[in-house]
Amino acid sequence: MTDQPTLTDGVVTLRPFRDDDVDAAVAGHDEEIAHWFGRPVDEVTTERMRQAIAGWRESYADDRSRVAFAIEAEGAIVGSVEVARRGPGVGELSWVLYRGRRGRGLATRAVRVLIDYALTDVGQGGLGYSRVEAKVEPENTTSLRVATRSGLRREGVRRIEPGTGDRAETTSYVVLARLVSDPPTSEPEGFRALLNSFLPRKRAIGQLLIRDHDGRVLICRLTYKNDWDLPGGVVEVGESPQLAVGREVQEELALEIDAGPLLLTDWLPPWSGWDDAVCLVFDGGEHDADLTERIVKQAREIRAAEFATVEQVRERCADFTARRIESALANLAAGGGPAYVESGGR
Ligand SMILES: CC(C)(COP(=O)(O)OP(=O)(O)OC[C@H]1O[C@@H](n2cnc3c(N)ncnc32)[C@H](O)[C@@H]1OP(=O)(O)O)[C@@H](O)C(=O)NCCC(=O)NCCS
Repeated sequence: MTDQPTLTDGVVTLRPFRDDDVDAAVAGHDEEIAHWFGRPVDEVTTERMRQAIAGWRESYADDRSRVAFAIEAEGAIVGSVEVARRGPGVGELSWVLYRGRRGRGLATRAVRVLIDYALTDVGQGGLGYSRVEAKVEPENTTSLRVATRSGLRREGVRRIEPGTGDRAETTSYVVLARLVSDPPTSEPEGFRALLNSFLPRKRAIGQLLIRDHDGRVLICRLTYKNDWDLPGGVVEVGESPQLAVGREVQEELALEIDAGPLLLTDWLPPWSGWDDAVCLVFDGGEHDADLTERIVKQAREIRAAEFATVEQVRERCADFTARRIESALANLAAGGGPAYVESGGR
């Protein structure tokens, strides 16, 4: 087997650890590292560091299941990176910068060089992985930035039972990864996919304001909650909100009503275990009161569907739903045009 290589991008150099790195490595460990690895600073002793270096050397010579590099920059050792085999073709990355070496872009550079090496074919001097991944606690925002700046796409959040992670307090990890076939982030397609993986998403709900000629509003009593609500539902991934609301009303009530113009955008803050959401209320038009006779209720979701006066809406709906309905009606009375409220408004 070839010797462990030395790799560089011109600013940082990744090279095998040497015995004379021990003192700098021990001195470089501080509270920041101890915090995220769940290992008290005083546990990183000269003797343990010596053993760790011997272990990495052995592992490289043996089967390369763990390959660690010292990061050198500005003429000194500034940290370390490691890739450990987690399954066939899968390597897990980790990174550390020592005390006083942070905030200069050195970790991102080192991780990029490491990823390149890990995903390069064995025949071309790499480790031949098809996937490299990292798990980072959601609160470790500096490390999340290192991961995404290095081209790892965010895949999701893995929950863990407290007490089974790196730290006693760990309850989840963000999983980020790069595949050998992912387009480089220097290409627009690769860059967009990377950004798309970690930019926030918001849930969208579409609802329809259906009225009769007396100004009453069609509301539904749902099977899974006690109060009443406008017909509609959650917009699917990639679905148009305006079409979603027509689909939901068809599924819930068997009514074919196309959603008209948008009347109201209502932002719903996080509530009782639900993430925040945007509720879009579309105009469902004015109809004869016997519309309700054509309703075929979807038994799984809808217990009742009736036209209700504003007073009945206030009695039957949650306060924020009643406010939303009144805001939408007020907007309609004022001549329509999109309006924006939060928690129902008014
Ligand atoms: C995670 C850790 C390595 C990040 O170190 P870092 O120096 O912040 O990371 P980078 O090398 O990517 O540097 C980026 C920072 O340098 C700044 N910077 C300064 N000059 C720069 C340059 N020339 N190029 C790029 N960035 C530069 C950037 O603006 C950025 O700061 P910002 O995030 O406030 O915008 C470090 O905090 C650490 O060792 N933490 C403890 C161990 C740990 O948590 N490991 C991860 C376990 S999975």
